[in-house]
Amino acid sequence: MKTVRIADFKAHVGEEVLVQGWLHNKRSSGKLQFLIVRDGSGFAQAVVAKAGVPPEAWEAGDAMGQESSLELTGKVKEDKRAPGGFEVEVTGLKAIHVTHDFPITPKEHGTAFLMENRHLWLRSQRQHAILRIRHAVVKATRDFLDDQGLTLVDTPIFTPAACEGTTTLFGVPYFDEGTAYLTQSGQLYNEANAAAHGKVYCFGPTFRAEKSKTRRHLTEFWMVEPELAFAHLEDALKLAEGLICSVVRRVLETRKEELKTLERDVAQLEKIQSPFPWLHYDDAIKLIQSKGSQTQWGSDFGGTDETVIAQAYDRPVVVHRFPSAIKAFYMEPDPDNPVYSLSADILAPEGYGEIVGGGERMSSAESLLARIHEHDLPEEAFRWYIDLRRFGSVPHAGFGMGIERVVTWICGIDHLRETSAFPRTLYRIYP
Ligand code: 4AD
Ligand code: MG
Repeated sequence: MKTVRIADFKAHVGEEVLVQGWLHNKRSSGKLQFLIVRDGSGFAQAVVAKAGVPPEAWEAGDAMGQESSLELTGKVKEDKRAPGGFEVEVTGLKAIHVTHDFPITPKEHGTAFLMENRHLWLRSQRQHAILRIRHAVVKATRDFLDDQGLTLVDTPIFTPAACEGTTTLFGVPYFDEGTAYLTQSGQLYNEANAAAHGKVYCFGPTFRAEKSKTRRHLTEFWMVEPELAFAHLEDALKLAEGLICSVVRRVLETRKEELKTLERDVAQLEKIQSPFPWLHYDDAIKLIQSKGSQTQWGSDFGGTDETVIAQAYDRPVVVHRFPSAIKAFYMEPDPDNPVYSLSADILAPEGYGEIVGGGERMSSAESLLARIHEHDLPEEAFRWYIDLRRFGSVPHAGFGMGIERVVTWICGIDHLRETSAFPRTLYRIYP
């Protein structure tokens, strides 16, 4: 008999199928066993009637504890009330591996315990839903950028120098070359790739030795970074806006069940439409100060500030023109007033904070070199980066979107750690 995945039940109503999976939960009366089975694609209820199966099948159902692996045969029935909308009338059941005492039971567990057992926690319905939404976000991101004509060019993970400030670098011994650093962003290499391909993106893991123990920070996270040649700040941010709208729409279309599992208020996501409002940094400062923030002009926003700004809108907001002094060395100054940089962040609604950071890159070799000195960065390591401005320099811009931040917001969950299968944080590297 052919194995049918639970997600494909719709096409097999009325047929007898083989299901391979694990026992998520069970209850039983004297004559009926109700098994909630998961097979990786979904969850379904399988009903075993003592009178309807061979005695070995009934005994197998009796013997199995939570997370025992199994194979069952049965007829797929549509049932509106059942989780997932289908039920299996079991005809045969066999345990592959009987287990008892699975550490994560349906009762409440503390986060520390769940994180310690992350390798098993992944099997829960909630974690399953979150990671399936993550997959949809990644797929939608790639599809959107591919459709916009960007070429995927991946950038290295071992790098000789900092990209986003020297305080969050992870050093790694690198043969006779001294210390290499795990990349904080592929942007600088992306700029070289953009000069070769016009429009590119990279999509990979990035690393920050963040000492902050907040719900928004991981030490390893995935970032998608588009970079456009012959483009300005507005062009890059328009692309980001299109990307975010497209990703949200895709999740709403293809991950309804998962959003339901997470009890996500989808009305909030349905509001995500173009155009996004733009707010100048100065106005953002005025806004948060009017709501009691102590943050002064010339500082970056705190998490609470970002929430206050976002609360003024029903869709993501673009905060633009941060003071040059608080942004990375490569930011192009605003020609109208160089105190400001051609930079922007996109803040997610509902208090989820910054999901995108980007801007226009400095296009003059002289100014860039001066900046590298001002920031006390090793000129030698950036020789190639300055070259990009010496050979056919063009205005160019791009951004980085943190995948875990986006998934956290779309899922409507509290903490970034649940959006990565094996999250890396300040105090945890196991499992
Ligand atoms: O704002 P950031 O630092 O920007 C850059 O790295 C640019 N070089 C990107 C570019 O222009 N190509 O980071 C970009 C995004 C943030 O908006 C946030 O979504 C995410 O990356 N991010 C983090 N996500 C999880 N944990 C952390 N510690 C993060 N730091 C940044
Ligand atoms: Mg940022």
